[in-house]
Amino acid sequence: MAVLSVSDVGISFGGLRAVDGISFGVEPREIFAIIGPNGAGKTTLFNVISRIYEPSTGSIVFDGRDITRIPPHDVVRAGIARTFQNINLFDNATVLDNLMLGRYRHHRSGVLRQTLFTPFVRREKLADRRKVEEVIDFLELGKYRDVLVAGLPYGVRKIVELGRALAAEPRLILLDEPSSGLNVEETRDMVFWIQDMRDDLDMTVIMIEHDMSLVSAVSDRVLAMSSGRMLALGTPGEVQRDPGVAAAYLGG
Ligand SMILES: Nc1ncnc2c1ncn2[C@@H]1O[C@H](COP(=O)(O)OP(=O)(O)O)[C@@H](O)[C@H]1O
Ligand SMILES: [Mg+2]
Repeated sequence: MAVLSVSDVGISFGGLRAVDGISFGVEPREIFAIIGPNGAGKTTLFNVISRIYEPSTGSIVFDGRDITRIPPHDVVRAGIARTFQNINLFDNATVLDNLMLGRYRHHRSGVLRQTLFTPFVRREKLADRRKVEEVIDFLELGKYRDVLVAGLPYGVRKIVELGRALAAEPRLILLDEPSSGLNVEETRDMVFWIQDMRDDLDMTVIMIEHDMSLVSAVSDRVLAMSSGRMLALGTPGEVQRDPGVAAAYLGG
């Protein structure tokens, strides 16, 4: 049973069909890659799944529940977290504070209760802190815990953003170009984090990625897109050998 089913999803901006009739299913604990030239509609597809955009056609079912029209914060609550192509962190806050923000979905106490700082809120805060410390250990971010994000090298900020998504304890994580801007060594580390997320944290991963060696190393299946459409769906080898995929890259 697929954990995520995307059926005939489409969205237009003005006259442009940015995403056009995309359908696929992702199995639990699968690592699923989305490739395609710039402007193919990959990020837009993520924006539709995470409900930043409303799709004009189709439906999205996660974990047996139709999430096509639910608000974005409910998507996080349902168990889907993401990272962004351009890192999206609070630069003037510490690594710890940025990771704590990832705990938002778990907060059951309302604003009034938080202000009153009841024992319930206290317990909730302690649980958040414990979870965040687990993420810090998992991603080996301990030495950066109290450092402002603004002062960190790009590669570390990328890992912090991954950590913020993990702090939400998602079942499905969407990674938008996890290796972009990383050097060879950092990219190799990213491969390990992605595999560990699946193996140790039981997560399902969908990643948009340009680095074909990374895609081949970790993905079970690959969806290739171009001009909003599906070009091919299969194993990394199958998709790489697809003549339509090669043509799309040459054309782009
Ligand atoms: N909010 C928006 N308004 C108008 N056009 C958009 C918007 N978001 C994306 N697009 C257009 O949709 C197409 C797909 O973009 P995008 O999903 O970012 O591509 P990719 O991530 O595959 O490089 C591009 O032509 C882009 O300019
Ligand atoms: Mg993109």
